[in-house]
Amino acid sequence: MMLEVRDLHAYYGKSHILQGVDMKIGAGEVVSLLGRNGVGRSTTVKAIMGEVPPHGSIRFKDTEIAGLPSYKIAHLGLGYVPENRDIFPGLTVRQNLMLGIKNPRHPGKWRLDDMLDMFSNLKARADTAAGVLSGGEKQMLTICRTLMGDPELVMIDEPTEGLAPIIVQQVGDLIAEIARRGVSILLVEQKLSIAMRISHRVYVMGHGQIVFEGTPSELKDNEAIRKEWLEV
Ligand SMILES: Nc1ncnc2c1ncn2[C@@H]1O[C@H](COP(=O)(O)OP(=O)(O)OP(=O)(O)O)[C@@H](O)[C@H]1O
Ligand SMILES: [Mg+2]
Repeated sequence: MMLEVRDLHAYYGKSHILQGVDMKIGAGEVVSLLGRNGVGRSTTVKAIMGEVPPHGSIRFKDTEIAGLPSYKIAHLGLGYVPENRDIFPGLTVRQNLMLGIKNPRHPGKWRLDDMLDMFSNLKARADTAAGVLSGGEKQMLTICRTLMGDPELVMIDEPTEGLAPIIVQQVGDLIAEIARRGVSILLVEQKLSIAMRISHRVYVMGHGQIVFEGTPSELKDNEAIRKEWLEV
């Protein structure tokens, strides 16, 4: 198992946000974590990354990581793309990508030029300051920078938020390509469309717990769950 989360709890002060989350991701699997605003999806990935103190068990490739500092978790091969599209605006696209490299002496499966070839909008802007990129390009850049660290599993938090439909499609294609190259993915989303298109399995979260687990088609057929936990 790539990632196995058991009975995960997390708190902000006295607010008990995660109330026993159970989740698994296998090697090469694309899994989406869905749910309405504020249910605890970002808190789940932050707790897995050690950015919010986790209570419970989190095993990554059979190593217990709950309680480890974030940089150690990242070095074990767990990549994280947070929701804020945090790039270095004064550095070029190429320089931003190079900052994602974790071990220069051990290049991984994502080479810089190779990546620029794959994503033509990044290639055209390789030597441009990243600050001028559009929202969609910044999102692709943060995802690609994380890939430069050669993660085995990458957790991507709401990559399509605020993007135009055509860009949503491109980000979806990028994520599908990452999966094709054998990287496991945990996609945090609110929109059903991309998640349903690229996921092997989906989890639905409500009030700090997983309330549904199944395939995209099982979710599509389960109107009760969609009505109660997803649709507005
Ligand atoms: N730093 C924080 N301090 C206090 N409360 C927080 C903090 N971050 C999040 N919360 C609260 O924790 C709950 C879960 O937040 P979380 O960010 O995990 O939600 P989410 O499912 O990712 O939704 P969205 O991204 O749409 O806000 C929310 O009620 C939110 O207000
Ligand atoms: Mg969130």
